Amino acid sequence: MTHYLKKNIPLQALHTFGVEAFAEYYFDIHTLEDLDTILRNYPEIPKPVLCLGGGSNIIFRQHYAGTVLAMRLMGISIIEETDDTVTVRCAAGEQWHSLVEWTVNQGWSGIENLALIPGTCGAAPIQNIGAYGMEIKETIIAVEWYDFASGQKNIFTNEQCHFEYRDSIFKKELANKGIITAITLQLSKKPDIRTSYADIRRILEEKHITEPTVRTIFDAVVEIRTRKLPDPKEYGNAGSFFKNPVISIEHFRHLQQSYPEIPHYPIDDITVKVPTGWLIEKAGWKGFRRGDIGVSPKQALVLINYGKAHTEEIIALSNDIVQDIQQRFSITLEREVSII
Ligand code: EPU
Repeated sequence: MTHYLKKNIPLQALHTFGVEAFAEYYFDIHTLEDLDTILRNYPEIPKPVLCLGGGSNIIFRQHYAGTVLAMRLMGISIIEETDDTVTVRCAAGEQWHSLVEWTVNQGWSGIENLALIPGTCGAAPIQNIGAYGMEIKETIIAVEWYDFASGQKNIFTNEQCHFEYRDSIFKKELANKGIITAITLQLSKKPDIRTSYADIRRILEEKHITEPTVRTIFDAVVEIRTRKLPDPKEYGNAGSFFKNPVISIEHFRHLQQSYPEIPHYPIDDITVKVPTGWLIEKAGWKGFRRGDIGVSPKQALVLINYGKAHTEEIIALSNDIVQDIQQRFSITLEREVSII
């Protein structure tokens, strides 16, 4: 079984921020049996154990003194179809965008607004990926999970996943305790077209589309993301570096007195979400560069590796931004990206 085991593997090409880093031990997981084999044959593998999907929401410190399991389980299948719905099971190693594209090609609705989000299907529920008025929690009906300690395969229902904004049980209580092996989604044959997002409406108007379809929404999202978000193939980045904060309505009204134009999304009667990209731009950081690390000139929520940035420099810049936003707006930003 030694062909499974790899040591001191470079991680630079295995995560989208692209910093130089090494994993002490590394395994590719191609089958569920690989997981059993690894845990049975190598009980001494260094802990912690980290599951790596597309590496699009993670930044490594220089040396990962543990074991990286790279998720390579593949396969998409239809498990049930009715007149109105289609239930699709997708293995964790499939690329998320490929799944979205495939469902859109069939004309099915439910994840078209989530086009072009980098990463794998297995990683998608961990932070409840969301964009342009849609979240994966709306279509997920099951998440298959392999528990490291017991070797048991469990199935979590949607409710058991405890989904929240960019959060789930897999990011909290179950972090590093197991691995997602597949997800099951229920899609609709009767499209629920979501155009609430101003950017989507703008593109549809530009193209004179008055009756949008699943395909035209997908195309619009691809266009917006391509315009606004830096391509990790060009410059290392991990999408949104911070979450959008939720603040009290009193706090928001106070800010509005100084900044009447501040964008905001009401959450309920007492709280409001404000976009971090706006706060960071207003504070003057947009396009800022220090050595090989910077704030994207296109979208201030994204930090960029211009070449050989080190994780410590990324942390230092992000801490400076957090401190500045705290001083200016009395808002504490929370990182969305995991630093391991
Ligand atoms: N804004 C600025 N300056 C900027 C960036 C944004 O003023 O540099 C303003 C925009 O004008 C707009 C508002 O902030 O009024 C919101 O901007 P945008 O529509 O780009 O969305 P976002 O809130 O910055 C969130 C998600 C993105 C997701 C988009 C679209 C989070 C942390 N980020 O960004 O998710 O694609 O909405 O729904 O919730 C990701 O998670 O990696 C990600 C990219």
